Amino acid sequence: MSDHNAVKTTKMNYDKDRPKAANPVKIEDISLRDGHQSLFATRGRTEDMIPVAEMMDEVGFWAMEVWGGATFDTMHRFLNEDPWERLRTLKRYIKKTPFSMLLRGQNLVGYRNYADDVAKAFVDRAAANGMDVFRTFDALNDYRNFETVVPKIKENGKHFQGCICYTMTEPRMGGDVYGIDYYIKKAKELEDMGADSICVKDMAGLIAPYDAFDLITALKKAVKAPIHLHSHFTSGMSSMTHLKAIEAGVDIIDTCMTPYAYRTSHPAIEPLVMTLLGTNRDIGFDINKLAEISEKLETEVMPKYKHLLDDSKVSTIDINVLLHQTPGGMLSNLVNQLKEMDALDRIGEVYRLLPKVRKDLGQVPLVTPTSQIVGTQTVNNVLFDETEGEYKMITGQVKDLCYGLYGKTSTPINPEVQKKALKGYARGEEPITCRPAQVLEPELDKATEEIKGLAVDLDDTLVYALYPVTGQKYLRWKYGKEEAPKEVMPRSMEEAKAEEALLAKVKKGLIRDTTQDAGELGEGSRTFKVKVDGEFYEVGVEEAGGTPVIDYVQQLVAQMPAAPAGGMVAPMPQAQPAAAPPPAPKAAAPKAAPAPAKEAASVEGTPLLAPMPGMVVSYAKNVGDTVEKGDTVVILEAMKMENALPAPVDGTIKAIDFTSGDNVPKNAVLCVIG
Ligand code: CO
Repeated sequence: MSDHNAVKTTKMNYDKDRPKAANPVKIEDISLRDGHQSLFATRGRTEDMIPVAEMMDEVGFWAMEVWGGATFDTMHRFLNEDPWERLRTLKRYIKKTPFSMLLRGQNLVGYRNYADDVAKAFVDRAAANGMDVFRTFDALNDYRNFETVVPKIKENGKHFQGCICYTMTEPRMGGDVYGIDYYIKKAKELEDMGADSICVKDMAGLIAPYDAFDLITALKKAVKAPIHLHSHFTSGMSSMTHLKAIEAGVDIIDTCMTPYAYRTSHPAIEPLVMTLLGTNRDIGFDINKLAEISEKLETEVMPKYKHLLDDSKVSTIDINVLLHQTPGGMLSNLVNQLKEMDALDRIGEVYRLLPKVRKDLGQVPLVTPTSQIVGTQTVNNVLFDETEGEYKMITGQVKDLCYGLYGKTSTPINPEVQKKALKGYARGEEPITCRPAQVLEPELDKATEEIKGLAVDLDDTLVYALYPVTGQKYLRWKYGKEEAPKEVMPRSMEEAKAEEALLAKVKKGLIRDTTQDAGELGEGSRTFKVKVDGEFYEVGVEEAGGTPVIDYVQQLVAQMPAAPAGGMVAPMPQAQPAAAPPPAPKAAAPKAAPAPAKEAASVEGTPLLAPMPGMVVSYAKNVGDTVEKGDTVVILEAMKMENALPAPVDGTIKAIDFTSGDNVPKNAVLCVIG
């Protein structure tokens, strides 16, 4: 550690003599992206950012993260907001501070690799709409997935921040795969690509303070670009980690305003300002100004959102992260998944098998989407395999990973698993070794053609190209072709307060399920889903004469999407294969369900049952088609992973009860073969 980096304190009168520090720590505020993504299911609305926007612009942040990650998805799907418009609107209030976004490499702001033409157009439009810093990551740290977007970022004159996803296989940094050499190698690769800064992205809060010290020290020596640390609070270590990273000379730290801080989010800015006050790394921010912003958020914004906060536990940290070295969001997904299948008692087996499955799949870093890929496959193995390592039910995403569609894994994939996964795989049984997007056909012209008449400009077309199903639905709302449902409309403070009062009553047991006598709701009525002590309720609110009145409360059996933890999990991504879907099932899908009435159960023959609850993505066969045992009949999405379900017998499809987009319970009769 050089003297320059050592944190030195001086005695002084802070109010009068606070000098500008020699090497101030720079701060990126990430409240308006990762903050609400981590704590409030990414549901923050633009109108609730505006009250503090100008004040935040005055603070002196190095950048503000306001876009990217799950925001694009959530806004058009759940908030009836144009994601592009948010950028333009915030830019009118935030004029001095650069904007930052989280870009998922070739996945952009979605969950699969998009074709190069879409990726290029997306970066151009993000830059044109006001984006300045492109924080770019790839789940496998395979930087070939940056090769299309980075030249575009540069061409637009914007800042390319390259990320290294921080992961581990041991309780602390080290081991065969993810030791300090790994990170130095990755940082040098990023520097060679022209990174303007390098971010250590610790999405699960895994990095321990002394490991951060060693890592940042080594990175500062190895590369010239400024080093940025992004470390979630999930496990409880990150405040300590920040301090050790600062002592090691880190240049930029991510923090949140207090109401958006801690839990699965990030440490707050105010304590860090006080910690460094008067040192040679003094951030230089006015703590009173920060307090004003936090207070405004707390009183004027948070009442509308706090129902989304996961209050199912008293503990604010997740010790499981420390025990299992896996992201908190991933573990809570596994628990939910097992619960849905009535198999929560097998969580121990899942914990035991998880490292083995991860090893089989190339020791991938555990970050969206790889954390779900490894997690879901582990659950499938625990539930469906008769012998360990059988891989009886391999998800579509594992097949894609084995094919090379996500990129190169850190260690080679177990060849036996790979062979099994690729047997009969639509793209071919031989895995690719090239840059994944190289095998993707251009998509933009096709999307433009499909959405013409509805999309007005390229921004609209991109909403559709990224999210075909929900994107089209949103554009129909946007242009008045269809009325947006009430649940995507904003909630007023009055509604929020009325609901809070109601919840207090529910908690005291003063109100029980009143669905029976709720009757028909009037014109101005709206329904909300709320969570009390881990249980979900639907609440009907009627605005009679402007004052919202609670109509009914109904406990829901089906769960709302779990609040994403650790900024890891985006809410309910729609069914999309990791790459362009093979043509056959797509053509068959629209005609697939001629009989929506649930009558297949009464048709004679062998039923194909849903092995787990999920959503029907598509049928590969129609009624009347002949199938051989083992042919894929239906693709079922469960916990965001696609499962190809094979015909149990030879025969003819006699009846199909569901269609693309239908949610089905476990053991639903998906079709009958006779
Ligand atoms: Co994050």
